[in-house]
Amino acid sequence: MKQRNKKSNQQLGVVIVGHVDHGKSSLIGRLLHDTDSLPAGKKEELEAICEKRGVPFEWSFLLDAFQAERDQAVTIDTTQIFFSTAARNYVIIDAPGHREFLKNMISGAAQADAAVLVVDATEGVQEQTRRHAYMLHLLGLQQICVVINKMDKVDYSAEVFSKVSKESVDYLKSIGLNAGHIIPISAREGDMLVERNTNMPWYKGKMLTEALDALELSSPAVALPLRFPVQDVYRFEEERVLVGRIETGTLNKGDTIFFSPTNEKAVVTAIKSWPEEKDSLKASAGESVGITLDDRIFVERGHLGSSEKNLPILSNVFRANIFWLSHTPLKVGNSYKIRYGTREARVTVQSIDNLIDTQDLERQEDASEVARNAVAEVTLRARDMLPIDAHDMNAKMGRIVIYEGYDVAGGGLINMEGYPDQRQSAEPKSENIYKVMHSVTPDMRAQRFGHYGGIFWFTGLSGSGKSTLAVAAEKEIFERSMNAYVLDGDNVRYGLNSDLGFSPEDRAENIRRVGEVSALQASSGVIVLSAFISPYQADRRKARAAAPSYFHEVYIKADLETCESRDPKGLYKKARSGDIKQFTGIDSPYEAPSNPDLVVDTEKNDIETCVKQIVDYIVENVGLGEIGEKEVAIENRVVSIKQR
Ligand code: ADX
Repeated sequence: MKQRNKKSNQQLGVVIVGHVDHGKSSLIGRLLHDTDSLPAGKKEELEAICEKRGVPFEWSFLLDAFQAERDQAVTIDTTQIFFSTAARNYVIIDAPGHREFLKNMISGAAQADAAVLVVDATEGVQEQTRRHAYMLHLLGLQQICVVINKMDKVDYSAEVFSKVSKESVDYLKSIGLNAGHIIPISAREGDMLVERNTNMPWYKGKMLTEALDALELSSPAVALPLRFPVQDVYRFEEERVLVGRIETGTLNKGDTIFFSPTNEKAVVTAIKSWPEEKDSLKASAGESVGITLDDRIFVERGHLGSSEKNLPILSNVFRANIFWLSHTPLKVGNSYKIRYGTREARVTVQSIDNLIDTQDLERQEDASEVARNAVAEVTLRARDMLPIDAHDMNAKMGRIVIYEGYDVAGGGLINMEGYPDQRQSAEPKSENIYKVMHSVTPDMRAQRFGHYGGIFWFTGLSGSGKSTLAVAAEKEIFERSMNAYVLDGDNVRYGLNSDLGFSPEDRAENIRRVGEVSALQASSGVIVLSAFISPYQADRRKARAAAPSYFHEVYIKADLETCESRDPKGLYKKARSGDIKQFTGIDSPYEAPSNPDLVVDTEKNDIETCVKQIVDYIVENVGLGEIGEKEVAIENRVVSIKQR
């Protein structure tokens, strides 16, 4: 067997795809043989076996034999087959079955730079040719060689070649792919792989190995913007080390590193390469490192480090072009675990925007499920704000794998087209602004009013009792000589938020503004009762982030059936008949708080009991308190206010 090409440590990953029986295995067997990449005597050994059994020798047997041997050596990755040309080394990414291959490709276990699409000259483009080509498109592969195989069976006809190549190229074009080379070959006869013999004098283009040598390696991950997902935070006495692998880009000692979704930044004071723990000045994509920072900012597992100039998008909703492999269809409303980049999140399928037939490329809008082997554009929504890279910006981070339990159920590419970055600008848009420090402190206000400010954020379905309870609690608190004020969804939508509707994006903005208003009011010493459906957990989290030390999440709990039977404004009835669209609980989701500060069950308890529960909770949390324990709480409050 030929030595691996030592001159170059470049290795190009190639996937070979095509319709069943179009000659994929023969091509690989022949390519291994012709590039002298098989163990010596392998072919002769197989020929002898064939002769003994009385079956004609086939080139695909080489691959099978090769695979069988490798299967026994369990430590070897069975999905990779190596060969080399004079120019460089190649790895063919292959798998025993189509599904395993796809799973490896989407999970990123196998990384390909280019693809060879095999088409049978006698049959032309077939169902799987189209499906596989579409997969290449979804996998983001841009470099494609088409080989028209079995030219020996069509008498090396230039006409047949030109007909079948046109058919192939037309389909590729229709899905936005360009075939860099289209090569007539005969894997069986060894035509146009490594040797150019006399059968096709009319073909002047590159042979397969020449075409492969002309392909480019994908742009290295180092050239992309810095992405450093934090895998863990270790504490060694005083020191805190953030550990993870640099997925793309480069990090230097002294760089400012910016974390998402927290919008916190600090300067890198040391980079330790793992596992030797050697101090480095610089680390690049692929390296596992531990870093220390000059500031004790809040960072934990799952946060994503980047440079300040090239941030990922922050969003709790995004679109993905996916293909589905599971037997159980993907459905609107289902929730899945996804891996994106190297992080994990839980998402719910908000909509199936397009179901794509890979045969005729017809699109079906608003389908309710995606069946096995189907391809679709779906909108996914997460509970949390996720730092996301679209695939066209960062091919390594911009893909997702969807799991059912531990099984890969599907995967594809992230597309952020049409979705705004929801990052609350860490730096305000305006420049040259300076914070004014108040000379009246929260303590002084509290002394004057007899209580601290606070935000009591009532969330729950329409009809759960938010406004009723908020208004009743406001009155009760007011009568105790405390200053309370209700901010109510319907009211605010007449004024401040009269420009907003009920799309997820508008609701997010509604809650963002109200969150900021609540924060301002609470710092002025008011007890704010904010009554908003605020259906999305991520939006409520943002509202909390506007004033974390003041914020209390109060879940006004009543199930849909109860709320619908109350229907105080007759809106459920209208929503059911289709007169109101995107109505929470009917055709728009409600995400119940997973860890509310207070749960008020309006199904089980009467109004009076609920109001008492709320008022007691509020009074307990805004009181001036006793000296001691409460003072610490006050101190913390002041500190966190100063930090804002
Ligand atoms: S939120 O989702 O953005 O938090 P918000 O609390 O401001 O909603 O407004 C909810 C109120 O708007 C409801 O009490 C109801 O009176 C009215 N409303 C009108 N259309 C809708 C709708 N499609 N979904 C929910 N509430 C609606």
